[in-house]
Amino acid sequence: MINVADFEQAAKGLLEAGPLGYFAGGAGDERTLRRNVEAFAEWELMPRVLVDVSEVDPSVELYGSRLAMPLLVAPVAFQRLAHPDGEEGMARAAGAAGTAMCLSTIATATPAAVAAAAPDTTRWFQLYWFSDRAVTEALVAEATGSGYEAIVLTVDSPFAGRRERDLRTGFEADVAAPAVQAALGSDRPVSIREVFALVDPTLEWNELAALCDSCELPIILKGLMAPADAELAIEAGAGGVVVSNHGGRQLDGVPATIDALPAVAEAVAGRIPVLMDGGVRRGTDVLVALALGADAVLAGRPALWGLAVDGEAGAQRVLKLLHDEIKLALALLGCPAAAGVRREHVVRRR
Ligand SMILES: Cc1cc2nc3c(=O)[nH]c(=O)nc-3n(C[C@H](O)[C@H](O)[C@H](O)COP(=O)(O)O)c2cc1C
Repeated sequence: MINVADFEQAAKGLLEAGPLGYFAGGAGDERTLRRNVEAFAEWELMPRVLVDVSEVDPSVELYGSRLAMPLLVAPVAFQRLAHPDGEEGMARAAGAAGTAMCLSTIATATPAAVAAAAPDTTRWFQLYWFSDRAVTEALVAEATGSGYEAIVLTVDSPFAGRRERDLRTGFEADVAAPAVQAALGSDRPVSIREVFALVDPTLEWNELAALCDSCELPIILKGLMAPADAELAIEAGAGGVVVSNHGGRQLDGVPATIDALPAVAEAVAGRIPVLMDGGVRRGTDVLVALALGADAVLAGRPALWGLAVDGEAGAQRVLKLLHDEIKLALALLGCPAAAGVRREHVVRRR
């Protein structure tokens, strides 16, 4: 297995229909799911030559941490359904690859357990804003107290998208999601539907401003697509944004994230970090995203396929191959450093 597609194919051969549909699937007709991947092919890299690329540095600095590459592990729920190594294995794999992991609220391990398993990995915590404020605050407090360095508040999911593969397979997660169970005051596994029933669909910008004020960690908003929302995020005090459509799992029919990124990056104009996720499968995809204004990207399914194939070691192999692809692509693009990738390194395909 030498690329992400190989791992995807292998994982699809290993997983049962229910978890496979949950991991691979998107909402509705899965147009956005497909577009996220396909749209990268509409951007082409424009290399510069005769640049000394004997030393290439793909690292980036984000929120005071130096990461070995501009690619982080996206928050993905229920990782123990892919492999018993679960989120602890994923966090260790991210650390071994020199990058950060964002832990989902719907993880099968608590923030504290993942911190204990991977104390040296840069960790961010993805938050769903539950209607019960005390529960939301307790989650933030646990993440803060266990050394997470940022809160990634997901804002594209006031309700779960309609994921038809799950309806067809009748998929129900049968593993524990301790943070959610605590929120429910229950000790039995919870269904996806129950989780999203806890999320507060009334949340608006003014409350976000209060959260940003009260939280000692940067709040990164994940799941916005419109430049006007990036402007509101900055006004509310957000420390960053992730241009994301939840990997095509929420509102079907929205643009590919790589196509939404340029306008958001232009609106933000360097005031806060801009990240993106969705459809990144190659090191060259990462370079396109950097050229269009991203400071870094997140990858969801690629690392998950690695985990499914060979647990922590498989996730590490996927992250390492992406690291090597990014490094080689930087050299061939004529950029000795990730920070040197500019808008002129990419052209729209004609
Ligand atoms: C199986 C699965 C579960 C996910 N769970 C979460 C989650 O709990 N919280 C969240 O903010 N995003 C979640 N996401 C979205 C990812 O964080 C990310 O936005 C998306 O996977 C990026 O697209 P990619 O898979 O093409 O890289 C999930 C994605 C998948 C595939």
